[in-house]
Amino acid sequence: MIHKEIKSYFTENYNSQPILIKAPGRINLIGEHTDYNEGLVLPASIEKGIYFAVSGNDNNNIQIETFLTQPEKIVFQLSGEHEKFTSFWGNYFKAIIEILIAKKYPLKGMDCVFGGDIPIGSGLSSSAALCCGFIYAITKVSDKEISREDIALIAQEAEHKIGLNCGLMDQYAVLFGKKGNAFFLDCKDLSHSYIPINLDGYSWVLVNSNIKHNLAVDSEYNKRRVSCENIVKEVQKNRPEITSLRDVTLQDLVTVKNDVSSIDAQRAKYVIEENNRVRKMMNVLTEGNAYAVGDVLKEGHWAMSKQYEITTAELDALVKIGENLEGVVGSRMMGGGFGGCTINLMKTENLDFNIKSMLEQYKDQTDIDAEYYHLAIDDGVKVFE
Ligand code: GLA
Repeated sequence: MIHKEIKSYFTENYNSQPILIKAPGRINLIGEHTDYNEGLVLPASIEKGIYFAVSGNDNNNIQIETFLTQPEKIVFQLSGEHEKFTSFWGNYFKAIIEILIAKKYPLKGMDCVFGGDIPIGSGLSSSAALCCGFIYAITKVSDKEISREDIALIAQEAEHKIGLNCGLMDQYAVLFGKKGNAFFLDCKDLSHSYIPINLDGYSWVLVNSNIKHNLAVDSEYNKRRVSCENIVKEVQKNRPEITSLRDVTLQDLVTVKNDVSSIDAQRAKYVIEENNRVRKMMNVLTEGNAYAVGDVLKEGHWAMSKQYEITTAELDALVKIGENLEGVVGSRMMGGGFGGCTINLMKTENLDFNIKSMLEQYKDQTDIDAEYYHLAIDDGVKVFE
């Protein structure tokens, strides 16, 4: 009950009744590294989240404190000035405050205590939850609304400032998610719809490899984006109307083959095919075909491993273990890559046995203790009652 702890810590230390806000983490069923290519994604917001207890103050400053992971208190003046801080999370708040100041947003004094239960660096988008939740919190103690679309853009800009040239999937999932549903987003025009993902007799389980990534300081993510942009530039020479990989075809890749690096071409091919996997996933979910859903998951994983080269040996081991378990219909790594969780579709019958076998075999092979979480899809950012 982390939200209760946060709320009572706030009331004891800040002498007022706060507004409590929840920003969820997200999973992704399929559509990885497609968002910054104006492609398709199918994420969902989850029950795990970051909670913010906030209230206005008369100090003309923004005091932010967490007493959970990396306990620290950071005070920002409304001018953006602040004392030195050591927590990595401080960078996100700093970036957001600077962006809002640059946009001439009327910031007000505010006290904020936050904390949550999204494992950090696990492909569940703790940073998008942190950024979107904090911006939303600011709007709750100020006189000026910011639309959810704009919150997403500000949160994305904060990530870019810190060093991750991400797309918009995480922010949109965190802000627009809906309980019980996956969220289909077309990153070209940002149109979206919802699709239920419950399959009778099957359960969704997340397995955390406990290999942590920090995408913001690891340039591999950004290198993938550059590869995609290189291909777009080359295709544009023949087809100037092209603005992203979304409209590049496999035939275009053949045409430019001799003018691009083979690694870039391989990565672009992955993205084009990944968009097709999202379309396929929508179809098989609609049909309720669990085995076909599992196949799309596995295909997606091995494409990330062999073509896009963003998995790790441990994540590959987890997926392979699942492939050899009768009760696991399919699984794949989620998120930016290089660590984090897998999402697994398992038969509900013998679920405990299969999870246990998976964790045991993983421990045998890697000497790492994995964790698992049952997937529960919750609403996007909201005031939490
Ligand atoms: C990270 C980024 C997203 C997206 C995924 C990969 O989570 O923040 O924008 O690119 O990786 O699908």
